[in-house]
Amino acid sequence: MSMINAAVVESFDEPPHFRSVPAPEPAPGQEEVEVLAVGVHPATRGIAAGKHYTSPKTLPALAGADAVVRRADGSLAYVMMMGAGTLAERIVIDPAAVIPVPDGADPAVLVATMNPALSSWGALRTRVPFQAGHSVLVHGATGNAGSMAVKVAKHLGAGRVIAAGRNRSRLGELAAEGADDIVALVPDQDATAAALAEAAADVDVVLDYVWGPPTELAMRAVLGARTQRTRLLDWVQIGGMGGDAITLSGHTLRSTAFRVLGSGFGSVDMQVMLREFTELVATIAAGGMAVRPHPFPLDRVEAAWAHQDAPGERTVIVL
Ligand SMILES: NC(=O)c1ccc[n+]([C@@H]2O[C@H](COP(=O)([O-])OP(=O)(O)OC[C@H]3O[C@@H](n4cnc5c(N)ncnc54)[C@H](OP(=O)(O)O)[C@@H]3O)[C@@H](O)[C@H]2O)c1
Repeated sequence: MSMINAAVVESFDEPPHFRSVPAPEPAPGQEEVEVLAVGVHPATRGIAAGKHYTSPKTLPALAGADAVVRRADGSLAYVMMMGAGTLAERIVIDPAAVIPVPDGADPAVLVATMNPALSSWGALRTRVPFQAGHSVLVHGATGNAGSMAVKVAKHLGAGRVIAAGRNRSRLGELAAEGADDIVALVPDQDATAAALAEAAADVDVVLDYVWGPPTELAMRAVLGARTQRTRLLDWVQIGGMGGDAITLSGHTLRSTAFRVLGSGFGSVDMQVMLREFTELVATIAAGGMAVRPHPFPLDRVEAAWAHQDAPGERTVIVL
């Protein structure tokens, strides 16, 4: 039996381990591909820790949720394999689910950037009736996905983008990178609420990476400040850095034209996602939208899991 190197989750309480595993055997209709780079995103870590809705039901299981791969014809592709695993020298994929990557694209940059960037691209293009000229509040803008959301919203034609986050120096960078306004999320809740009310009272869309109690505060602040109560506000839950739950009163839902929805793996039809993300890959490959990869080799997967990304950086396993 031929063997390959891989990163295997053996326990949800430990990082994946570097192991030798049997080479994959493609079933009819599947394709075997060479893995070039895999992102270690919050979801990748959550899946390997048993805390994601796509976490494997049984262990051991291959770690990794996405990858840039080389196909048999030599072309590059981006694949998302939530829960199925990508961290091995070779994997089998469904050829109908690949996203083509232009020749010459850097696999590490692409895999570092795709997951953060697709969160806002998918939300704005598939979940809400977003139009050029609309205004967008990014709640939790200082992480990679939030920072990409500022760029993606601008790229897709947002008239005004407000970046709200905790990290002041990162907020300053976002202002230089295109945010029209910034809001510091500070421990003083009254100050945070006042700043959100002033900057974001009449936004059309909120892209929310925080959720939990900070979102309860932000919803109260923004909804309480709206000047036109019947102007539609779509509040899109994308990430849960501040908690997985909120309390939302019926009064809040009734008293303004306010919708709460989520955007993520499972909320959009796969064919629609593939079409949208093909355009996103091409946009990233063209430059101007990038998360900096922090590379580790596969045999240092445990060190990769222990590494804490600096702002603007994403751990990537390069094979
Ligand atoms: N649904 C989707 O399609 C999708 C796709 C990609 C990512 N996501 C989710 O989006 C979230 C962020 O991902 P990421 O790639 O940006 O991770 P990341 O680069 O690690 O950034 C997370 C950032 O969240 C900020 N944060 C944490 N707690 C916060 C709080 N209470 N208030 C405000 N900001 C807070 C931190 O910024 P500071 O320390 O600077 O405040 C941190 O840097 C994760 O939950 C991830 O799973 C969802």
